[in-house]
Amino acid sequence: MIEETRVTTDDLIFPLFLIDGKNQKTEVASMPGIYRLSSDLILKEIEECLKLGIKVFDVFPAVEDQHKDKKATRSYDANFFYLKCLREIKRQFPEACIMTDVAMDPYSSDGHDGFVKDGKILNDETLEILGKMALAQAETGIDILGPSDMMDGRVGYIRRVLDENGFSDVSIMSYTAKYASGFYNPFRDALDSAPKFGDKKTYQMNPANRTEALLEAQLDTEEGADFLMVKPALAYLDVIRLLKDNSVLPISAYNVSGEYSMIKAAAAKGWLDGERVMKETLLSIKRAGADIILTYFAKEFALTQKR
Ligand code: PBG
Repeated sequence: MIEETRVTTDDLIFPLFLIDGKNQKTEVASMPGIYRLSSDLILKEIEECLKLGIKVFDVFPAVEDQHKDKKATRSYDANFFYLKCLREIKRQFPEACIMTDVAMDPYSSDGHDGFVKDGKILNDETLEILGKMALAQAETGIDILGPSDMMDGRVGYIRRVLDENGFSDVSIMSYTAKYASGFYNPFRDALDSAPKFGDKKTYQMNPANRTEALLEAQLDTEEGADFLMVKPALAYLDVIRLLKDNSVLPISAYNVSGEYSMIKAAAAKGWLDGERVMKETLLSIKRAGADIILTYFAKEFALTQKR
Protein backbone atom coordinates (compact mmCIF):
# COMPACT_ATOMS: atom_id res chain seq x y z
CA MET A 1 0.00 0.00 0.00
CA ILE A 2 2.82 2.39 0.76
CA GLU A 3 5.20 1.21 -1.93
CA GLU A 4 6.17 4.32 -3.89
CA THR A 5 7.67 2.92 -7.05
CA ARG A 6 6.70 0.00 -9.21
CA VAL A 7 8.18 -1.19 -12.49
CA THR A 8 5.88 -2.83 -15.02
CA THR A 9 6.30 -3.96 -18.62
CA ASP A 10 4.44 -0.77 -19.62
CA ASP A 11 7.57 1.18 -18.65
CA LEU A 12 9.96 -0.77 -20.83
CA ILE A 13 11.43 -0.53 -24.32
CA PHE A 14 13.23 -3.63 -25.59
CA PRO A 15 16.27 -2.96 -27.84
CA LEU A 16 16.72 -5.59 -30.57
CA PHE A 17 19.65 -6.26 -32.92
CA LEU A 18 18.79 -7.05 -36.53
CA ILE A 19 21.05 -8.81 -39.05
CA ASP A 20 20.59 -9.56 -42.73
CA GLY A 21 19.64 -13.02 -43.90
CA LYS A 22 17.20 -15.75 -42.94
CA ASN A 23 16.98 -17.94 -39.87
CA GLN A 24 20.11 -16.31 -38.41
CA LYS A 25 20.61 -16.08 -34.67
CA THR A 26 23.96 -15.33 -33.02
CA GLU A 27 24.48 -14.51 -29.39
CA VAL A 28 26.38 -11.32 -28.56
CA ALA A 29 29.42 -12.69 -26.71
CA SER A 30 29.55 -9.88 -24.17
CA MET A 31 25.75 -9.87 -23.64
CA PRO A 32 24.64 -13.39 -22.64
CA GLY A 33 20.99 -13.97 -23.56
CA ILE A 34 20.96 -11.21 -26.20
CA TYR A 35 21.01 -12.21 -29.88
CA ARG A 36 21.45 -10.68 -33.28
CA LEU A 37 18.41 -11.90 -35.21
CA SER A 38 17.50 -11.97 -38.87
CA SER A 39 14.22 -10.42 -39.94
CA ASP A 40 12.13 -13.63 -39.77
CA LEU A 41 13.31 -14.34 -36.22
CA ILE A 42 12.93 -10.76 -35.03
CA LEU A 43 9.28 -10.93 -36.10
CA LYS A 44 8.85 -14.05 -33.95
CA GLU A 45 10.62 -12.36 -31.05
CA ILE A 46 8.32 -9.34 -31.27
CA GLU A 47 5.26 -11.59 -31.37
CA GLU A 48 6.44 -13.40 -28.23
CA CYS A 49 7.24 -10.18 -26.41
CA LEU A 50 3.89 -8.62 -27.28
CA LYS A 51 2.24 -11.59 -25.58
CA LEU A 52 4.36 -10.90 -22.50
CA GLY A 53 3.17 -7.30 -22.39
CA ILE A 54 6.14 -5.54 -23.98
CA LYS A 55 4.80 -3.09 -26.52
CA VAL A 56 7.76 -0.96 -27.57
CA PHE A 57 10.87 -2.12 -29.44
CA ASP A 58 14.00 -0.22 -30.49
CA VAL A 59 15.54 -1.93 -33.51
CA PHE A 60 19.26 -1.53 -34.33
CA PRO A 61 20.88 -2.90 -37.51
CA ALA A 62 24.21 -4.75 -37.51
CA VAL A 63 25.61 -3.98 -40.95
CA GLU A 64 28.29 -6.00 -42.78
CA ASP A 65 31.52 -4.14 -43.55
CA GLN A 66 30.99 -4.35 -47.30
CA HIS A 67 27.92 -2.11 -46.92
CA LYS A 68 29.63 0.58 -44.85
CA ASP A 69 30.91 3.78 -46.40
CA LYS A 70 31.95 7.31 -45.42
CA LYS A 71 28.47 8.75 -45.91
CA ALA A 72 26.37 5.90 -44.52
CA THR A 73 24.45 5.71 -47.80
CA ARG A 74 22.78 2.39 -46.93
CA SER A 75 21.00 4.12 -44.06
CA TYR A 76 18.50 5.68 -46.46
CA ASP A 77 18.35 2.93 -49.08
CA ALA A 78 14.73 1.75 -48.95
CA ASN A 79 15.79 -1.70 -50.20
CA PHE A 80 18.34 -2.24 -47.46
CA PHE A 81 17.44 -5.01 -45.00
CA TYR A 82 16.88 -2.70 -42.02
CA LEU A 83 14.24 -0.54 -43.68
CA LYS A 84 12.61 -3.57 -45.32
CA CYS A 85 12.34 -5.30 -41.97
CA LEU A 86 10.84 -2.24 -40.26
CA ARG A 87 8.14 -2.14 -42.93
CA GLU A 88 7.40 -5.84 -42.39
CA ILE A 89 7.24 -5.45 -38.60
CA LYS A 90 4.68 -2.64 -38.88
CA ARG A 91 2.72 -4.64 -41.47
CA GLN A 92 2.48 -7.74 -39.26
CA PHE A 93 2.24 -5.97 -35.90
CA PRO A 94 0.71 -2.52 -36.35
CA GLU A 95 -0.02 -2.51 -32.61
CA ALA A 96 3.68 -2.73 -31.75
CA CYS A 97 5.31 0.64 -31.15
CA ILE A 98 8.56 0.68 -33.09
CA MET A 99 11.49 2.96 -32.38
CA THR A 100 14.47 3.32 -34.69
CA ASP A 101 18.00 4.60 -34.32
CA VAL A 102 19.17 7.70 -36.14
CA ALA A 103 22.98 7.85 -36.24
CA MET A 104 25.62 7.02 -38.81
CA ASP A 105 27.75 4.57 -36.84
CA PRO A 106 26.19 1.24 -37.90
CA TYR A 107 26.66 2.21 -41.58
CA SER A 108 29.84 4.28 -41.32
CA SER A 109 33.22 2.94 -42.45
CA ASP A 110 34.71 5.31 -39.85
CA GLY A 111 32.58 3.88 -37.03
CA HIS A 112 31.49 7.35 -36.02
CA ASP A 113 28.02 8.78 -35.51
CA GLY A 114 28.82 11.71 -37.80
CA PHE A 115 30.49 12.44 -41.12
CA VAL A 116 34.28 12.40 -40.83
CA LYS A 117 36.66 14.60 -42.81
CA ASP A 118 40.37 14.96 -42.09
CA GLY A 119 39.91 13.24 -38.75
CA LYS A 120 37.11 15.59 -37.64
CA ILE A 121 33.40 14.95 -37.20
CA LEU A 122 31.53 17.59 -39.22
CA ASN A 123 28.30 18.57 -37.48
CA ASP A 124 26.31 20.33 -40.20
CA GLU A 125 27.27 17.95 -43.02
CA THR A 126 26.04 15.14 -40.77
CA LEU A 127 22.60 16.75 -40.31
CA GLU A 128 21.84 16.36 -44.00
CA ILE A 129 22.55 12.62 -43.84
CA LEU A 130 20.56 12.23 -40.62
CA GLY A 131 17.63 14.00 -42.27
CA LYS A 132 17.61 11.51 -45.15
CA MET A 133 17.94 8.58 -42.72
CA ALA A 134 15.11 9.86 -40.51
CA LEU A 135 12.80 10.35 -43.48
CA ALA A 136 13.57 6.87 -44.88
CA GLN A 137 12.80 5.35 -41.48
CA ALA A 138 9.59 7.36 -41.08
CA GLU A 139 8.45 6.14 -44.51
CA THR A 140 8.49 2.54 -43.21
CA GLY A 141 5.67 3.39 -40.79
CA ILE A 142 7.63 3.37 -37.53
CA ASP A 143 6.45 5.42 -34.56
CA ILE A 144 9.44 6.93 -32.73
CA LEU A 145 12.79 8.12 -34.07
CA GLY A 146 15.75 7.94 -31.72
CA PRO A 147 18.55 10.29 -32.73
CA SER A 148 21.52 8.84 -30.81
CA ASP A 149 24.18 10.73 -32.76
CA MET A 150 24.51 13.82 -30.54
CA MET A 151 25.09 16.34 -33.34
CA ASP A 152 23.99 19.86 -32.42
CA GLY A 153 20.68 20.96 -33.90
CA ARG A 154 19.64 17.54 -35.16
CA VAL A 155 16.31 17.36 -33.36
CA GLY A 156 15.10 20.59 -34.99
CA TYR A 157 16.51 19.54 -38.35
CA ILE A 158 14.83 16.12 -38.26
CA ARG A 159 11.55 17.60 -37.00
CA ARG A 160 11.49 19.97 -39.97
CA VAL A 161 12.23 17.22 -42.49
CA LEU A 162 9.48 15.05 -40.99
CA ASP A 163 6.88 17.82 -40.94
CA GLU A 164 7.65 18.97 -44.48
CA ASN A 165 7.11 15.43 -45.71
CA GLY A 166 3.83 14.71 -43.97
CA PHE A 167 5.21 12.80 -40.99
CA SER A 168 4.12 15.18 -38.25
CA ASP A 169 2.80 12.21 -36.26
CA VAL A 170 6.20 10.49 -35.99
CA SER A 171 7.72 11.40 -32.65
CA ILE A 172 11.29 12.00 -31.58
CA MET A 173 12.92 10.52 -28.51
CA SER A 174 16.06 12.55 -28.30
CA TYR A 175 19.21 11.16 -26.76
CA THR A 176 19.46 14.39 -24.78
CA ALA A 177 22.14 13.72 -22.20
CA LYS A 178 24.21 11.00 -23.82
CA TYR A 179 27.58 10.71 -22.16
CA ALA A 180 30.89 9.59 -23.70
CA SER A 181 30.82 6.37 -21.71
CA GLY A 182 32.80 3.20 -21.24
CA PHE A 183 29.52 1.33 -20.76
CA TYR A 184 28.74 1.07 -24.50
CA ASN A 185 31.40 -1.46 -25.46
CA PRO A 186 29.20 -4.58 -25.57
CA PHE A 187 26.76 -2.70 -27.85
CA ARG A 188 29.63 -1.85 -30.18
CA ASP A 189 30.53 -5.58 -30.19
CA ALA A 190 26.94 -6.40 -31.10
CA LEU A 191 26.94 -4.04 -34.08
CA ASP A 192 30.66 -4.20 -34.81
CA SER A 193 30.47 -0.40 -34.80
CA ALA A 194 33.40 0.74 -32.67
CA PRO A 195 35.08 3.94 -33.91
CA LYS A 196 38.00 3.21 -36.27
CA PHE A 197 39.99 6.09 -34.75
CA GLY A 198 39.72 8.40 -31.77
CA ASP A 199 36.69 8.50 -29.50
CA LYS A 200 33.25 10.12 -29.36
CA LYS A 201 34.15 12.87 -26.92
CA THR A 202 33.73 15.69 -29.42
CA TYR A 203 30.01 15.00 -29.69
CA GLN A 204 28.97 12.96 -26.64
CA MET A 205 28.87 14.62 -23.21
CA ASN A 206 31.58 14.80 -20.59
CA PRO A 207 30.65 12.47 -17.68
CA ALA A 208 31.70 15.25 -15.30
CA ASN A 209 28.88 17.55 -16.44
CA ARG A 210 25.42 17.94 -14.96
CA THR A 211 24.39 21.50 -15.76
CA GLU A 212 25.17 20.88 -19.42
CA ALA A 213 22.41 18.25 -19.39
CA LEU A 214 19.96 21.07 -18.63
CA LEU A 215 21.25 23.03 -21.60
CA GLU A 216 20.84 19.98 -23.85
CA ALA A 217 17.33 19.45 -22.47
CA GLN A 218 16.40 23.06 -23.15
CA LEU A 219 17.69 22.91 -26.72
CA ASP A 220 15.99 19.57 -27.50
CA THR A 221 12.72 20.85 -26.06
CA GLU A 222 12.85 24.04 -28.13
CA GLU A 223 13.72 21.99 -31.22
CA GLY A 224 10.62 19.82 -30.79
CA ALA A 225 11.65 16.64 -28.98
CA ASP A 226 8.76 14.55 -27.62
CA PHE A 227 10.86 12.64 -25.07
CA LEU A 228 14.20 13.38 -23.40
CA MET A 229 16.63 10.56 -22.74
CA VAL A 230 19.50 10.13 -20.29
CA LYS A 231 22.14 7.55 -21.21
CA PRO A 232 23.69 5.53 -19.59
CA ALA A 233 21.29 5.20 -16.66
CA LEU A 234 23.06 3.86 -13.59
CA ALA A 235 26.08 6.12 -13.32
CA TYR A 236 23.77 9.04 -14.17
CA LEU A 237 20.78 8.59 -11.85
CA ASP A 238 21.30 12.16 -10.62
CA VAL A 239 20.96 13.44 -14.18
CA ILE A 240 17.70 11.49 -14.64
CA ARG A 241 16.32 13.18 -11.52
CA LEU A 242 17.60 16.56 -12.67
CA LEU A 243 15.78 16.35 -16.00
CA LYS A 244 12.64 14.92 -14.40
CA ASP A 245 12.48 17.88 -12.02
CA ASN A 246 13.11 20.42 -14.76
CA SER A 247 11.01 19.23 -17.67
CA VAL A 248 7.40 18.42 -18.39
CA LEU A 249 8.39 16.02 -21.16
CA PRO A 250 8.48 12.27 -20.51
CA ILE A 251 11.97 11.23 -19.40
CA SER A 252 13.50 8.00 -20.61
CA ALA A 253 16.69 6.34 -19.45
CA TYR A 254 18.83 3.86 -21.38
CA ASN A 255 19.99 0.99 -19.18
CA VAL A 256 22.88 0.37 -21.58
CA SER A 257 24.72 -2.73 -22.72
CA GLY A 258 27.58 -2.50 -20.22
CA GLU A 259 25.12 -2.21 -17.35
CA TYR A 260 23.44 -5.38 -18.56
CA SER A 261 26.75 -7.22 -19.05
CA MET A 262 28.03 -6.39 -15.57
CA ILE A 263 25.02 -7.98 -13.92
CA LYS A 264 25.06 -10.98 -16.24
CA ALA A 265 28.77 -11.58 -15.67
CA ALA A 266 28.51 -11.38 -11.90
CA ALA A 267 25.40 -13.58 -11.88
CA ALA A 268 27.13 -16.18 -14.07
CA LYS A 269 29.92 -16.38 -11.51
CA GLY A 270 27.39 -16.79 -8.73
CA TRP A 271 28.51 -13.53 -7.16
CA LEU A 272 25.12 -11.85 -7.42
CA ASP A 273 21.50 -12.97 -7.58
CA GLY A 274 20.89 -11.89 -11.18
CA GLU A 275 17.10 -11.64 -11.01
CA ARG A 276 17.08 -9.73 -7.78
CA VAL A 277 19.70 -7.26 -8.96
CA MET A 278 17.94 -6.81 -12.31
CA LYS A 279 14.74 -5.80 -10.51
CA GLU A 280 16.55 -3.55 -8.05
CA THR A 281 18.37 -1.87 -10.94
CA LEU A 282 15.20 -1.17 -12.93
CA LEU A 283 13.52 0.09 -9.77
CA SER A 284 16.39 2.49 -9.08
CA ILE A 285 16.12 3.97 -12.56
CA LYS A 286 12.39 4.48 -12.21
CA ARG A 287 12.75 5.87 -8.68
CA ALA A 288 15.34 8.33 -9.99
CA GLY A 289 12.63 9.75 -12.23
CA ALA A 290 12.57 7.81 -15.49
CA ASP A 291 9.09 7.34 -16.98
CA ILE A 292 10.48 4.95 -19.58
CA ILE A 293 13.41 2.52 -19.46
CA LEU A 294 15.21 1.10 -22.48
CA THR A 295 16.63 -2.18 -21.24
CA TYR A 296 18.01 -5.48 -22.54
CA PHE A 297 16.35 -7.03 -19.48
CA ALA A 298 12.87 -6.25 -20.84
CA LYS A 299 11.92 -9.77 -21.90
CA GLU A 300 13.53 -11.43 -18.89
CA PHE A 301 11.72 -9.02 -16.59
CA ALA A 302 8.42 -9.68 -18.35
CA LEU A 303 8.93 -13.43 -17.92
CA THR A 304 9.40 -13.04 -14.17
CA GLN A 305 6.10 -11.10 -14.02
CA LYS A 306 4.27 -14.05 -15.59
CA ARG A 307 5.42 -16.51 -12.96
C1 PBG B 1 25.40 4.87 -31.29
C2 PBG B 1 24.71 4.20 -30.18
C3 PBG B 1 25.36 3.62 -29.09
C4 PBG B 1 24.39 3.06 -28.28
C5 PBG B 1 23.15 3.31 -28.87
N1 PBG B 1 23.36 4.03 -30.04
C6 PBG B 1 26.81 3.47 -28.80
C7 PBG B 1 27.70 4.60 -28.99
O1 PBG B 1 27.34 5.78 -28.86
O2 PBG B 1 28.86 4.32 -29.30
C8 PBG B 1 24.72 2.33 -27.02
C9 PBG B 1 23.69 1.46 -26.43
C10 PBG B 1 24.20 0.52 -25.42
O3 PBG B 1 25.38 0.52 -25.00
O4 PBG B 1 23.39 -0.31 -25.00
N2 PBG B 1 24.71 5.71 -32.09
